[in-house]
Amino acid sequence: MQSPDTTFDLIGLGFGPANIAIGGALVESWAVHWDSSHQDYPIKKVLFLERNIKFQWHPGMLLPDARMQISFMKDLATLRSPQSPITFLSYLHSQNRLIKFINRGSTIPTRREYADYLSWAARYVQDHGIPVLFGTEVVGVDSTSDGLLVIHTKSVANDDVASYTTRNLIISPGGTGRIPAPLAPLIEHPLIIHSSTYLMSVDSIIASVAAKGKASLRIAVIGAGQSAGEITLNLRERLRSIPVPAGRHQIDMIIRKGALRPSDDTPFANEIFDPQATDAWFSHPSTAARATQLQEFRSTNYSVINSLTLDALYEVIYSQKVDSDIARRTNGPSSSIPLVHIRPYSCIVAAHAPEVDGDPDFTFTIQHVLSRELETEKYDAVICATGYQRTSWINLLKNSSVGKHFGLSSACQPGTCRLIPDTKRSLQDSELDSLLHGGGRSAESSNGSAVSTPPTSPTLSVTELDRHDDHKIYISRGYRLIPTNDGGLKSRIYLQGVEEATHGLSDSLLSVLGVRAGEVLDDLCKEVRL
Ligand code: FDA
Ligand code: NAP
Repeated sequence: MQSPDTTFDLIGLGFGPANIAIGGALVESWAVHWDSSHQDYPIKKVLFLERNIKFQWHPGMLLPDARMQISFMKDLATLRSPQSPITFLSYLHSQNRLIKFINRGSTIPTRREYADYLSWAARYVQDHGIPVLFGTEVVGVDSTSDGLLVIHTKSVANDDVASYTTRNLIISPGGTGRIPAPLAPLIEHPLIIHSSTYLMSVDSIIASVAAKGKASLRIAVIGAGQSAGEITLNLRERLRSIPVPAGRHQIDMIIRKGALRPSDDTPFANEIFDPQATDAWFSHPSTAARATQLQEFRSTNYSVINSLTLDALYEVIYSQKVDSDIARRTNGPSSSIPLVHIRPYSCIVAAHAPEVDGDPDFTFTIQHVLSRELETEKYDAVICATGYQRTSWINLLKNSSVGKHFGLSSACQPGTCRLIPDTKRSLQDSELDSLLHGGGRSAESSNGSAVSTPPTSPTLSVTELDRHDDHKIYISRGYRLIPTNDGGLKSRIYLQGVEEATHGLSDSLLSVLGVRAGEVLDDLCKEVRL
């Protein structure tokens, strides 16, 4: 008797929106192929491995009244398959809320409702044949002698280890909180957190700084993006209920640029998130071209705040001014409402943690970006709303026996690893370099009569981007890592949500999830079964 095949056709690392969308596309495909040709359908035995103990979507930022940055139609499936059972409309219908949502008159759901939609969709795909092991962290990847992948896991609850063999792996790990370098050595301190854990930590932070017995508290929020804006407003509300014997509590928003800026969600700019934009982005001739476009459209997503939150913040700052002007003119009492102070052009150059028997505060040395003057500031607690990095997949692969097939070794630093479209793979390094740098200079920079006024439109002048010592990792349009030396590796590895450099700005977002899941599934199915 033949022993049962214990090898999976597909393992997914993570069960966030990216892999739920893959699960949904699979469920739909199975429904089509089930009766007639399911036996030949190449992806049958699947498993998803998720570190969280249950489905959660950015729980640390599930702030009351926070809104999505996207239309409900950019859900897990609609753009690929409007009749999919896991569209946002299907969700609304299943909750008997469709008509009320329409009456509401906005295509933008709240984050709370969208998170509930995602958890409903996660449940739906599990109920339709997609197994998920929660509380299971992927800690390593290896290859077998017959070219398959072995995925090593650790239980979050008890550190138990297990291994699974698979023909295909989709790595969809999301981001990890980015911490400014001077603060990195302090990050284990309980009074300094990243925005991603805000809601899980804020109560205990406020309780422990309030217990210091100070007359008033000072908290730093670092960053000028959506997370920083939302947290500042939320923190202000929370601090209002903390008694203040003298003075007032203060929140400093420490930002490197000169002003908080709005996100560009205007219709022409929004087209950068269209599924078709991925093709254009992927086929640009060079890394420099893609980086230039990324820079041009950065304000659609990064380091910007949506206009509602921005207006609310300005209203706070303005009402503080009104209060202080009235108090001064009437000799009345100063306001005790927590003060929000925005510190522009402020770069933290050094940071010290509180000392047990010494200075009880965090001490920052802050340099003014323009004047270069240094100042010292003290804080009771610190929230780093400093965005995310998406390099955990590099660390996973480079430390494995599989990394070498893709040009990665344990010596590689994530900052020097660069994803490159596989269409550039046939080019020799020198050709690639000449294409990047020769074709990559703008007219202004290559001719001596360059005008002195800087152009307002993007120009190709990024020459530092492609260094010979970079580790180039090739990826296909279908999101598959392409081995530089397959060495007998037959299994395939796909990336999701971490390839903005090659597939465009929508990659870390929800915009193209449904379409992308279909593209990955097509790629998985078109290949010969291993
Ligand atoms: P996501 O991070 O959601 O999921 C990855 C999963 O993998 C996690 O569950 C993680 O636990 C798991 N994982 C990671 N490593 C693992 C390992 N080694 N082993 C096992 N499991 C592992 N975008 C947008 O288009 N519109 C919006 O409105 C918003 N709003 C928004 C709000 C906030 C607060 C943030 C931080 C981000 C957004 N985004 C967004 C962007 C956001 O990245 C996007 O909505 C999705 O979460 C991306 O889904 P992924 O599945 O790629 O990552
Ligand atoms: P972000 O947009 O990447 O902004 C990070 C901020 O931190 C930037 O202002 C950046 O400064 C600053 N920063 C980074 N490194 C720094 C350092 N070393 N020192 C000082 N400052 C530093 O991050 P985010 O606000 O967390 O947003 C991330 C993603 O989540 C975005 O896609 C956003 O749309 C999404 N999001 C959505 C919602 C929502 O749906 N309502 C809410 C929150 C987040 P510079 O400006 O100088 O670069």
